[in-house]
Amino acid sequence: MKEEIPERIKKITEQVFPKLVKLRREFHQYPELSYQEFETSKRVARELKKLGLEVKTRIAKTGVVGLLKGSKKGKTAALRADMDALPLDEQTNLPYKSKNRGVMHACGHDLHMACVLGCAVVLTRLKDQLSGKVKFIFQPSEEVTPGGAKPMIDQGVLENPKVNGIFALHSDSAIPVGKVGVKYGEMMAQADSFDLVIKGKGGHGARPQDGVDAIVVASQVICALQTIASRNISPVSPVVVSIGQIDGGTARNIICDRVVLKGTVRSLDSKVAKSAPSLINRIASGVVKSFGADFELEYHPGYPVLINDEKMTHIAQRATEILYGKDKVYHIKEPMMGAEDFAYFLKKVPGTMMRLGTRNQKIKATYPWHHPKFKVDETALKYGVSVMSLCIWNFLTG
Ligand code: NI
Repeated sequence: MKEEIPERIKKITEQVFPKLVKLRREFHQYPELSYQEFETSKRVARELKKLGLEVKTRIAKTGVVGLLKGSKKGKTAALRADMDALPLDEQTNLPYKSKNRGVMHACGHDLHMACVLGCAVVLTRLKDQLSGKVKFIFQPSEEVTPGGAKPMIDQGVLENPKVNGIFALHSDSAIPVGKVGVKYGEMMAQADSFDLVIKGKGGHGARPQDGVDAIVVASQVICALQTIASRNISPVSPVVVSIGQIDGGTARNIICDRVVLKGTVRSLDSKVAKSAPSLINRIASGVVKSFGADFELEYHPGYPVLINDEKMTHIAQRATEILYGKDKVYHIKEPMMGAEDFAYFLKKVPGTMMRLGTRNQKIKATYPWHHPKFKVDETALKYGVSVMSLCIWNFLTG
């Protein structure tokens, strides 16, 4: 019986594929920004209800959860999709191009939703043989911090029944369509942001001795902050401190009294991330003091480091191998310094995030995420649905 499951999953996926393409295009055509996924979540809830699942809506504003109960007792597994789009004007020529001006699904979240809904169809059809339960989680606002994952968790999305394992995927235009990317351990960074205000004393450009030049102080602070990575943190632990914006000064002949520095800190170790604010504080306070200036630091921790569980990642790798062969597994070697709030789920429950290859040169599905010409090869849906369905099946029966 067990040997048949992969074939059955493939077959059902094949049958629902045209419907999923339609659904994905519908999501694509009517994208909604973070925490405004009202119509999207209604559509998702409707699809889940059609399958006869227990559906909860309005979790953390627009979040939706569907619960499937297998006929046999067992563990509970979850799948997660994100629903939000980006503030971008779509520049593709697709017939189902965005109809909401200035908003675009340019990160593949439309594809993620269609994949998880596809899994809901496949696993519902296998309900009679299914042990345990499956939660289908659709979250708001992945793109904008503090994100939709944490409030959904705070509102109990991982409880009643308690979730024992979780899977998610993200589209990836760097991976050829047909392949599934897996990464063991750290996959994405914690990305924090901060505002550092340097306070000096203004004056005439000809009389520097009467003022405290915030621009000179800021330039020293910027250079000194680079010693966080080079002198304060172990060289084998990646961390990058970037100042991306400087605001200060009004005219060339006026000593500037105030400079605002806006920056980010990205790291792959939560201990490093934790130490960053106090390091910035120490360095900034030492430097400004030596110039007779003052400062203020506002620090905003971002999503945590995303760490994939060893066993769960192996389940994902095996599912891909069983369905499509070893050469369809794309081993991701290096972590990325971007951030993703699926990390909050992984802090609570073992799980893994896969990367779903969507790259196809022939149809120009090669642009990176958040690009106005971003496009995916929709056949990726077949791989996403079948692999994630088998992941759930194997997790629940394993
Ligand atoms: Ni995304």
